[in-house]
Amino acid sequence: MVKGTEYEERGSIGFVSLIATVAAVGGLLFGYDTAVISGAIRFIQLKFTLGNFMVGWAVACLIIGATIGTGFAGKISDLYGRKKALILAAILFTLGSVFSGLATNFTWFVIARIIGGLGIGISSVQSPLYIAEIAPAKIRGRLVSLNQLAVVTGIFAVYFLDLGIASRGNLVWNVSTGWRWMLGFGVLPGVLFFILLLLVPESPRWLQLKGREQEAFNILKRIHGESQAQIELKTIKPSSNNGYGLLKQLFKPGLRHALLIGVVLAVLQQVTGINAIMYYAPEIFKHTGAGQNSSLVETVWVGIINLIFTIVSLWLIDKLGRKFLLLAGTAMMTISLLVIGYAFHAGTAGSWVLIFILLYVASFAVSMGPIVWLVIAEIFPNRVRGTASSIASVALWLADYVVSQTFPVLLNSVGVALTFWIFGILSAFAFFFTLKAVPETKGKSLEEIEHMWSRS
Ligand code: BGC
Repeated sequence: MVKGTEYEERGSIGFVSLIATVAAVGGLLFGYDTAVISGAIRFIQLKFTLGNFMVGWAVACLIIGATIGTGFAGKISDLYGRKKALILAAILFTLGSVFSGLATNFTWFVIARIIGGLGIGISSVQSPLYIAEIAPAKIRGRLVSLNQLAVVTGIFAVYFLDLGIASRGNLVWNVSTGWRWMLGFGVLPGVLFFILLLLVPESPRWLQLKGREQEAFNILKRIHGESQAQIELKTIKPSSNNGYGLLKQLFKPGLRHALLIGVVLAVLQQVTGINAIMYYAPEIFKHTGAGQNSSLVETVWVGIINLIFTIVSLWLIDKLGRKFLLLAGTAMMTISLLVIGYAFHAGTAGSWVLIFILLYVASFAVSMGPIVWLVIAEIFPNRVRGTASSIASVALWLADYVVSQTFPVLLNSVGVALTFWIFGILSAFAFFFTLKAVPETKGKSLEEIEHMWSRS
């Protein structure tokens, strides 16, 4: 690391990128834990002789844990700090991985998954929030979106991990042992996250909220350099002086608008269908007539496209802005979903469905995927950020739960075509909502964003 006057004057992008990368490991755990079950579930079903409903519960209990964890995350982080909240997430995730891998009965398994889910919920909201609070405004979009990059990397990597483990033995071995490795392997990223977190500083904005000005200044100096740190501190200070965390402040006119944007975007990220694809892709591809093997290959394509276009988004987000990408992305999502619905309705060839599903995933990956988490982390004022971002994220996880529970039911009742048309109409709504209600926050400091609400 550069030392001496030059470093003190300029601060270090390298330093801030490094701590953002550490926080983004939380995203890796998020991706890992939501996706690992897809490869393990059929073995777990045989192991514990589960009926259809219990299979659904084995998958969904993590989401319930995450919803609860998210709900507590804001309070914990406002009281004890962003860093401690993330450390707690790492511990819960690690415990969840150990105990689910060792489970000898289904109740034990479910409790362990809920514990892991608590950790996922906390890190899903705290990692982006922590990064937003340390990042310089001009690269904040990119740094916060590192978290989404880690989520999709986790989803992608764990798919191969599951495949790799499953291929090491026969069905009997997989039912007795294979799935335990799949879940238990999460200990490694969990412990890694824990250790790395011990090395990163606390958020300067939280320290200032707690009146620890000198510590806040020292960290700002390492990020921005001495003179810029003084300016930053001056802008952070007034926004920290009004007390914080008060729920009723959130319902005052200006902030009510911010809360509405956070919650509606959070719900829209889920009800436009991404996890119907993420969790059920092989199932959907089978509806197009694809065999077991080709539907798995097509699922790998979904992962690759998700990864590539999340990187594209990182590159564009601080150049083109949040609003432009959201508009372009939701427009393309709408078109793709309507075409997919039509293709199923008309019984057209499977390759069309694949092409438009990939287009849909690419459009999600440049827009709703990273940007919704970014908006939740950056639109709320310092003093209510913990609580408000928790509320929006609870809404997101609940919507995730509803979609993943109802998707199989929708497929078998209203059918595939109508289900995709419903997602398409909701995407069109997301487009118009963004157009009317979402402000551009590119390049603005968190305190400048805060001022927008006092004017509205
Ligand atoms: C969403 C997850 C989703 C993932 C897919 C995230 O932004 O919150 O629900 O599975 O993106 O890439």
